[in-house]
Amino acid sequence: MAPRKLAAGNWKMNGTLAALDQLDGMAAAAEDASCDVLICPPALLIHPMIARVGAGDLLIGGQDCHAAAQGAHTGDIAAAQLRDAGATHVILGHSERRADHGETDALVRAKAQAAHQAGLVAVICLGETEAQRDAGATLDVIATQLAGSVPDGATAANTVIAYEPVWAIGTGRTPTTDQIAEVHALLRDRLTARLEDGADVALLYGGSVKPTNAAEIFAIAHVNGALVGGASLKAADFVPIITALD
Ligand code: G3P
Repeated sequence: MAPRKLAAGNWKMNGTLAALDQLDGMAAAAEDASCDVLICPPALLIHPMIARVGAGDLLIGGQDCHAAAQGAHTGDIAAAQLRDAGATHVILGHSERRADHGETDALVRAKAQAAHQAGLVAVICLGETEAQRDAGATLDVIATQLAGSVPDGATAANTVIAYEPVWAIGTGRTPTTDQIAEVHALLRDRLTARLEDGADVALLYGGSVKPTNAAEIFAIAHVNGALVGGASLKAADFVPIITALD
């Protein structure tokens, strides 16, 4: 088995019901594509999105879940509730959540475990800050985040890793192809050493992926897709990225 290719969109805190119009083009591209295509909208849009696209090939996911299965956690969402709404994936440990909500590797690992128990694929995000890169600490930071955030029981079927350098998110700046290749090679090595099917875990790159740079990024070894923010909001931007991956 080779890693399954995945074009994933993270809508972050963007979009209202009016944005569902963008889905038609994305759903059509997903039908035609051999890669997987996933959109992770704000939680309130998960159900309407699934109602809109039906049981087609466009996958819908969440952007976070709680580590507990249920209970007294006001404002939070359980992994089983995402699954119940029709989600197949959940993004975990995004740098914006690590920064805004103080999420640690241990918490991300616990959330990933909860996601797996609920039958969701955990899309676990890792990435260095600009200061860490400037200090030459990138590979150490990534290795530490990977070791701490991926739970026991992770497999190629239930886990995807997204490398998102914090300084490349929403900035229009991207690492060089060598910089991406270096991190993805490390991720592949560590996953292969730790998991029986680590060679088959899909590795995504995220951070200012656009129609104009997608093909170059997808040509890098061990890049099996992308986690796309801004350019996943409009079909006109996201569909060419899907096509570049396919
Ligand atoms: O999770 C995706 C993300 O953080 C990248 O965002 O807008 O740089 O593609 P963007």
